[in-house]
Amino acid sequence: MNKFFKSLAIAVMAISAVGCCSEKQCGEACSKEEAVKEVIMTRRSIRDYKEEPVCREQMAKVLEAGIYAPSAMNMQTWAVRVVDNKEFIDGVTAIAVAQHPKMAEQPGFRNIFRNAPTVAFVACPEESYSGEYDCGLLSQNMMLEAWSMGIGSCCLGSVVPIMNSEEAKPYLERLQLPEGYKLLVGIAFGYPAQEIPVAPERDASKAYYIE
Ligand SMILES: Cc1cc2nc3c(=O)[nH]c(=O)nc-3n(C[C@H](O)[C@H](O)[C@H](O)COP(=O)(O)O)c2cc1C
Repeated sequence: MNKFFKSLAIAVMAISAVGCCSEKQCGEACSKEEAVKEVIMTRRSIRDYKEEPVCREQMAKVLEAGIYAPSAMNMQTWAVRVVDNKEFIDGVTAIAVAQHPKMAEQPGFRNIFRNAPTVAFVACPEESYSGEYDCGLLSQNMMLEAWSMGIGSCCLGSVVPIMNSEEAKPYLERLQLPEGYKLLVGIAFGYPAQEIPVAPERDASKAYYIE
């Protein structure tokens, strides 16, 4: 009899563990899910930062999270260059402002990286079927890891044409990108100097099951 009840108890436990979203499953797995979801849902693009560069130890964690992103055939097609050198950031800004003087008219304007003190430039091979995708995954990993430590970020496609302009060539060269690589994005990183914005609306109808 004892044996019977033991088997029954094991069977009941097994069945309840199989159910999707069952409360019984909500142990370690759910707290992990909550932690990840919290970071995903609360991350926002930050467009004003304190002047202090991101501590390099924290940036090392951000980079590590980036390179643990998946990439096609694990080719790791990215090249990432982090700049927290004010002279570099201000130099590129001066070039951009000379090209588009209106930029500097924004209140509180310090630089073209949304005032970020630290910028990660992300590049991939010009000829690669997965490079842009790989770099997107890397970038998101970096931004989420940063936000989990309270570091704000913002992808900046707008800085690419500036970095690719003739005047900015010396700065692009300083990034030492491998031959045949193109710059995809600059990612601003820093400690937020603004309130965390409300999430812009998402369109849930863009993702659904097909039966
Ligand atoms: C590839 C890419 C390029 C972007 N370029 C810019 C940019 O040049 N300037 C900017 O302020 N935000 C830029 N963004 C940020 C988006 O505007 C932002 O992610 C979007 O509005 C959603 O807001 P959220 O990040 O707060 O959720 C870019 C985002 C991505 C993914």
